[in-house]
Amino acid sequence: MGLAASPQKKRHRQDPQPSPSSPSTSSNPASPIKKIKKSKYANAPPAFLHNGPTSSASKLSNGISSTSVAGTSSSTLAPSSPSRSRTVPASNVSNGLKWTESALKNVDPRIVEARAALPIASGQQAIIDAVRAYDTVVVLGETGSGKTTQIPQYLFQAGFAERHPVQMIGVTQPRRVAATSLARRVAVEMGQPDPAMLPSVKGKARTAAGGIVGYSIRFEDRTTRNTRIKFMTDGMVLREMIGDVAYGPSSKSIASNDALESTSSSSAAVRSNLLLKYSVLIIDEAHERTLRTDQVLGLAKRIQRERKALRQSWLDRGKPSNETEITELKIIVMSATLDADRFANFFATPSRALAANATLTDPKILTAANDKQHVPILYVKGRQHEVTMFHTEEPAQEWTDAALRTVLQIHVSRPPGDILVFMTGQDEIDTLARSLELYSSELPAWAEAESKPLPMSLMIAPLYAALGPSASAKVFAPTPPRTRKVVLATNIAETSITIPGIVFVVDCGLAKEKTYTPGTAVETLEVSEISQSAARQRAGRAGRERSGECYRLYTQEAFKGLALAGTPEIVRTDLAAAVLQLCAMGQDPYTFDWLDQPDATGLQESVLQLIQLGALDIKTLPALNGSDGEAEKGKAKLVLTAIGGKMAMLPVSPAYSRSLIAAGERGPTVARQVRDLIAILSSDRSILVEPSDPEKRDEANKAKSTFIHPTGDHATLLTVLYSYLGESDKARAMSKARKTEGKVDVKVVEKEAREQVRAWCSNHFVHEKAVKNVLHIRKQLRTICRQQKILCDDDLQEKLANSTSAQDEDPSEEESDSSSSSGKGVDKTGLFVTRKTNGISKPSDDEEDTHFTGLRQSLLEGRIANAALKNPSTPNTYKRITSSASAGATFKIHPSSTLHPSKLAREGGGKKLDAILFEELVFTTQTFARTVSVIEPSWLQEFAQRG
Ligand code: CDP
Ligand code: MG
Repeated sequence: MGLAASPQKKRHRQDPQPSPSSPSTSSNPASPIKKIKKSKYANAPPAFLHNGPTSSASKLSNGISSTSVAGTSSSTLAPSSPSRSRTVPASNVSNGLKWTESALKNVDPRIVEARAALPIASGQQAIIDAVRAYDTVVVLGETGSGKTTQIPQYLFQAGFAERHPVQMIGVTQPRRVAATSLARRVAVEMGQPDPAMLPSVKGKARTAAGGIVGYSIRFEDRTTRNTRIKFMTDGMVLREMIGDVAYGPSSKSIASNDALESTSSSSAAVRSNLLLKYSVLIIDEAHERTLRTDQVLGLAKRIQRERKALRQSWLDRGKPSNETEITELKIIVMSATLDADRFANFFATPSRALAANATLTDPKILTAANDKQHVPILYVKGRQHEVTMFHTEEPAQEWTDAALRTVLQIHVSRPPGDILVFMTGQDEIDTLARSLELYSSELPAWAEAESKPLPMSLMIAPLYAALGPSASAKVFAPTPPRTRKVVLATNIAETSITIPGIVFVVDCGLAKEKTYTPGTAVETLEVSEISQSAARQRAGRAGRERSGECYRLYTQEAFKGLALAGTPEIVRTDLAAAVLQLCAMGQDPYTFDWLDQPDATGLQESVLQLIQLGALDIKTLPALNGSDGEAEKGKAKLVLTAIGGKMAMLPVSPAYSRSLIAAGERGPTVARQVRDLIAILSSDRSILVEPSDPEKRDEANKAKSTFIHPTGDHATLLTVLYSYLGESDKARAMSKARKTEGKVDVKVVEKEAREQVRAWCSNHFVHEKAVKNVLHIRKQLRTICRQQKILCDDDLQEKLANSTSAQDEDPSEEESDSSSSSGKGVDKTGLFVTRKTNGISKPSDDEEDTHFTGLRQSLLEGRIANAALKNPSTPNTYKRITSSASAGATFKIHPSSTLHPSKLAREGGGKKLDAILFEELVFTTQTFARTVSVIEPSWLQEFAQRG
């Protein structure tokens, strides 16, 4: 294959400067890339660079200007600052600074220099002053100006994480990769150990190894008692708030909201969800408006005001020594776009939730604490270089193809500088990465044939949420000499992450977005157009270090047709998980402080779904004679049931958590199966490799057929996982036997064992990395199941084998490396559950392991809405049983499913498939159900009646 068909020759016009192509070859056909304008590309509108659009500004310090949203009376403007708080032992006040000075000695001077050169550096004091003076501060600044990495350090040094008992500075992120990569970066900047490398030890040894900076993401907690700056996903903060309720002294309140409602200020239940471990909560990337960020914003608003009131009450009562002191919470909202006023206004106004569900006895204190606030907005002026914009002349037919051609054209015709390509998802990224690798190996031959100078090497670095910390390290590492780095990223690189060295941006104009239509009750991940604001952000990535170029794979007209800003997730997502979480925290979803009120139908639907799952109940308050309940008489209230409380504690969707609980009731074998299946389904990547090359695909399908279970995809996926575990067990047993023989190099033996498993994976088209990720999730789910008393048979076996095993480990001390399953033989039970090799299972489990009946029933119990019956009028189509007339669309089984009619025909099985259960509906050319299993129609009746 030569490069003759490559884009730089065929499709990109090589027009004279300032096109990115060589001027000498103007005889080439027209290019889809046309320079529309060469203008100073201002990433930020004038308002961004100067003052807030509506408020007056005052210069605080070089580079930072400030405006504020006014509250009512000036008396509420100056809450007590932490420096004045009597809770800080005097000896501790300057510790942060002293400590940092000594730790910084270990830091590379170039990093210290780079920090000082960031646009935000000159505003350090202004930021600290503002946070001291006000309860809430909004910080607005361009991506890369230093908000996320610097502000936590400034606050730490200023002593914000030193109160007694020790409190942390929490920083929330919408994405996992951002939380980990930022924590690691800040650790480097502070001369601290890498939190990702925290050794897998427990207890004191773990604490001793932990530094000041940690992170916590779902299924991975890298914090210790030493952590003072904690990066975490929004989901983890939410979980912490529920965790406090469930684990708090009055954990019985989980079964009924009464305890939460009737408690007074001295009760632990009131304090339980107040994020007391944090003195500062930084809500980052607020502009992304994910549902979780919105939830955090709303909760933080109430918590801040509630803590203020509780503190005041404690002070007024003369600081009773038998009560724990409650401190105030500082909130910093950070955004990379222009919506600062929105956030400032939101925090300036009183909390509706607090007013509606007041728990304090003294209304005066509450009113004072819940009064209007003054919320200053700090603007960090970034340094943005000129970005030259290019649009395609005509809409690209196939954007992935256009992306490939554009990258190659830039590579062979433009000066050094790394390329960042914005793509939709992991599959597209992996495919483009492979094509680029292929072309890049052809480059020397091409250059020789064309008598062109030898182009630099290409280094391809993918970046998407599912990548582990080590894989994403390639993205951030300095580019080697004579090499051009090409980062293929999802919209993760838009604002959360800054990649050094980027000069060229290629933007496909699309992003994967979750969309949910109330009424159909199905959520789909669809590729949709980005907003103009997102497109500007993407382009801006090219001008961080010097002037750059942005290639949009769409026309300028198409750009003008894009929505100005993206839709907040709350208006396009399933609210069930959010509603359950809120109820578990004792919040009423109807009076919650939403930044944007969710769609009423959607909210109602989620509540109904949770009632159907048995998580919520409607309770009418009885009219008790002479009690305070009189006013509330006859009022219907949503209450959390015991099952709901348990569901809220499981870090998976309500459907999965309900299935897991149902599985627990069906016995330890089913519980183990469902737990492991949820681990597979919760992982971001597929455990089976699906090659795009048709020849390879046939081979892969053949390999896959050894795993296929007649009941469908769920059991098939489990079979893949268990076969892998069986294989790695076999390899381990063999190497153990060889080791006991003696006279062997242990390392060599272990390496061979690993290679044996790797070879098995590649022969069976099993994605080993993805399986390891699943095992990692499975390990965390195991701990959680143990805590929630969901008994699994492998745990029972382990208990028998090792009666001294720790049962209820502290999850924070749970080691969490992503290596394969434990070597203790724990996984030996329940491994061989395929039809061929189920010899090991106990006879009573044979039925489960052969037919997976309990598994499918448990899954169904969690998602009746995802059950469908065959549509008699059109062959091979299905219709959901719960669909109303409005949602009566029919769909087919996705071609990738083992139950797709073509595959069943090949196997010669004319299965009936009258009723099915599926994981999701996807819309491509038509609607398809993915990950499908067959179910008995009679089960539907049974569960429907129960619901
Ligand atoms: O939050 P904001 O977008 O304002 O900036 P930041 O994430 O704090 O990044 C500030 C600077 O730190 C970036 O411009 C990068 O140069 C550097 N950085 C880095 O080198 N590696 C990271 N993983 C994160 C940031
Ligand atoms: Mg940031």
